[in-house]
Amino acid sequence: MQEPILPYNYKQEIYNRLNSVESILPELKRILLELQEENLEIQYKSSDVDIVTKADFYSEQTILHFLQSKFPQDQILSEESGIQEAIIKNLSSINTKESKYTWCIDPLDGTVNYAHKLPLFSISFGILYENFPIGGLVFIPAFNDIYRAVYNDGAYKNHKPIRISNHKNLKQSLIVTGFPYNKIQIIDLLTNTIKKVLSNTRGLRRTGSAALDLCWVAEGRFDGHYEWNLSPWDTCAGTVIVKEAGGVITNEKKQEYTPGDSLLIASNPYIHQSLVNLILD
Ligand code: IPD
Ligand code: CA
Ligand code: CA
Repeated sequence: MQEPILPYNYKQEIYNRLNSVESILPELKRILLELQEENLEIQYKSSDVDIVTKADFYSEQTILHFLQSKFPQDQILSEESGIQEAIIKNLSSINTKESKYTWCIDPLDGTVNYAHKLPLFSISFGILYENFPIGGLVFIPAFNDIYRAVYNDGAYKNHKPIRISNHKNLKQSLIVTGFPYNKIQIIDLLTNTIKKVLSNTRGLRRTGSAALDLCWVAEGRFDGHYEWNLSPWDTCAGTVIVKEAGGVITNEKKQEYTPGDSLLIASNPYIHQSLVNLILD
């Protein structure tokens, strides 16, 4: 993706936003952990497996309210607030306000885990400048882990630098994947790919939160992540974090990944080509 001409003070602008967002994380954590135990209120979206809970809406409302008061000029794209898929796929058409900064928010990534009382879920705050991912923060409440990155300024976990793994070949690599809600429509693609990945790597995992997967690639726990049909709010923050940690991310055309593309393959640079060829050839 083509880098836009960035303002001289863009790092300061992004740090200002990420630092600000950190102040609401303790409150989001408290409420999400509380609601998970007491009050799920599950509703169904596109199908029986595509669910949303009271916590998704609560988290989103808290975040939107905060961002609208702190950064009223910024645009916001957030999962549960009803923006149509057509618009999401073409990020450029959401540019209606004056600011060139757009927040891309997943208020609860890993809702199925959350509803089953598993601790693997996250909140993802991506920031785009003219549709170019430029900053990200992913918070994992159950572990109190905050992953952050600013374009050209490195990636950090709890304010300490992180780096991608250095496994040099697929046989040593641990890969993570995820499955979209329309999994039945592409079941052959998913299962054929699983066969190939299981046969050629150390193992394959599925955590249930794509933003968390990307952070765990960035810090070298996983060597690679691939997944079809992710949405921009799943990947905006995580892609900046992976790239700033030294990773590479490509799409179904073997070109650089842009949020909204139908396939994401993220990994350390050493295994990237082999992983891409394994999945796509
Ligand atoms: C889901 C998670 C999951 C991925 C799904 C996503 P949600 O997001 O990121 O890991 O496999 O495709 O939709 O619905 O829990 O926000
Ligand atoms: Ca998500
Ligand atoms: Ca979500």
